Amino acid sequence: MMNPTKERVFKPEKLFAPRNFKAPKLKSTQFLEIGAGKGMHAMKFAEANPQKHLIAVERTRAKFDVFASRAKDLSLENLSAVHADAIPWVVHGFPPKSLDGVFLLYPNPEPKNASQRWLNMPFFEFLLSRMKPKATLVLATNIKEYVDEAEVLARKDWALNVKRIEVSKDSARTHFEVKYLARGEVCYQLNLEKPAGYQTRFDDWFA
Ligand SMILES: C[S@@+](CC[C@H](N)C(=O)[O-])C[C@H]1O[C@@H](n2cnc3c(N)ncnc32)[C@H](O)[C@@H]1O
Repeated sequence: MMNPTKERVFKPEKLFAPRNFKAPKLKSTQFLEIGAGKGMHAMKFAEANPQKHLIAVERTRAKFDVFASRAKDLSLENLSAVHADAIPWVVHGFPPKSLDGVFLLYPNPEPKNASQRWLNMPFFEFLLSRMKPKATLVLATNIKEYVDEAEVLARKDWALNVKRIEVSKDSARTHFEVKYLARGEVCYQLNLEKPAGYQTRFDDWFA
């Protein structure tokens, strides 16, 4: 179970549904990507995994527009591209234990604002509550301090099963990954598994 002494508690009831929000029709095998950028990973994942359904959320309009137009050309039935801030969208879009996996690939590093880094956010507990037991959240970054901090938080505060790996030099899942690896940088990945029997304070919370 997550650390019950964590003081800042997420308040989902304070978040309105995003404008023009339409509740998704969730599938039995459902994945979520937060911060999908121009959608390279989302489209590859959906193409390679026709039985897995992916909702990929991007907040920045210009990136989303590129993603949406490419996704439209591909017309993959198992991919939904969503233009929104993922936080209220997740609150209103997913019931507890509905996600088989979550991707957070190269999130903004927020070097000056620790409270905006995903594992520091009270929202992270809510996100975990939406994951099925044994589901995995994949976090990738090129910033060593980011992955070091996230690994400690994942183990100590969130009590997740943690696997840390280095991203292979020939990986090319996202635009940012391609750019960092081409510059010779090391990219890091955490696979964070929600243990069976894991409890959060939002397990009975529905929008
Ligand atoms: C550094 S970019 C990485 C994009 C892509 N994953 C890649 O690796 O090429 C981080 C992205 O996350 C998006 N983002 C950050 N916070 C978000 C949020 N709360 N909801 C949706 N998207 C978000 C930003 O708009 C930005 O496009």
